[in-house]
Amino acid sequence: MVSSNCAVSGVRAIFLEGELVPVASESMRRAVPADLPALGRMLATSLHASWNADAIAAEFKIEWSIVEVLVHDAEQEEIRGLLVYWHVADELQLLYVATDPHHLRKGIGRKLMQHLCLRAKRLHATCITLEVRADNDAALQLYRGIGFVEVGRRRGYYQTEGIDAVLMEWRTT
Ligand SMILES: CC(C)(COP(=O)(O)OP(=O)(O)OC[C@H]1O[C@@H](n2cnc3c(N)ncnc32)[C@H](O)[C@@H]1OP(=O)(O)O)[C@@H](O)C(=O)NCCC(=O)NCCS
Repeated sequence: MVSSNCAVSGVRAIFLEGELVPVASESMRRAVPADLPALGRMLATSLHASWNADAIAAEFKIEWSIVEVLVHDAEQEEIRGLLVYWHVADELQLLYVATDPHHLRKGIGRKLMQHLCLRAKRLHATCITLEVRADNDAALQLYRGIGFVEVGRRRGYYQTEGIDAVLMEWRTT
């Protein structure tokens, strides 16, 4: 039984059946330029790595672009997830979501997308839109699981391979 919650040497810990057990903590925050090297390393090993540190740096200069990171352990600040989206008129447009390749299939992608849905509601957006390669099964399953629905296709949009772009949407109401 958990009996109390405290911080020891800056690490959150709980008493669990008489023993002090450290608690892994995850939180979302806005990305800053100092994150670029870590993000660059993460993206360099990512499957479907269409983004890199330069692309993220360019987003920092766009007024309506929001770049957020999921950090594991507020003290050590290990970046494990990335979310890039635009807030345009009454829509959020997801540009990119990625999980550190060392931490796939641990629920991080779902947390990032749930956070995005919450942000959409808080910002009074009507919907979130996105575009994804038709052969990106992991992303498609992730989006469908959150409740995104397919609203269109761009045939052969990814031209070197002739892969379709799937257009998806999630409505806040
Ligand atoms: C897509 C991505 C963000 C998913 O991140 P993740 O942290 O591994 O996802 P989660 O662990 O939260 O998984 C949530 C759900 O997504 C689906 N999913 C994730 N990876 C999957 C895979 N390899 N194959 C099939 N479904 C997958 C599953 O439905 C999963 O639920 P489950 O584990 O209960 O079965 C990750 O694979 C990634 O970073 N890919 C490279 C970047 C990319 O392609 N981004 C999308 C660009 S549009």
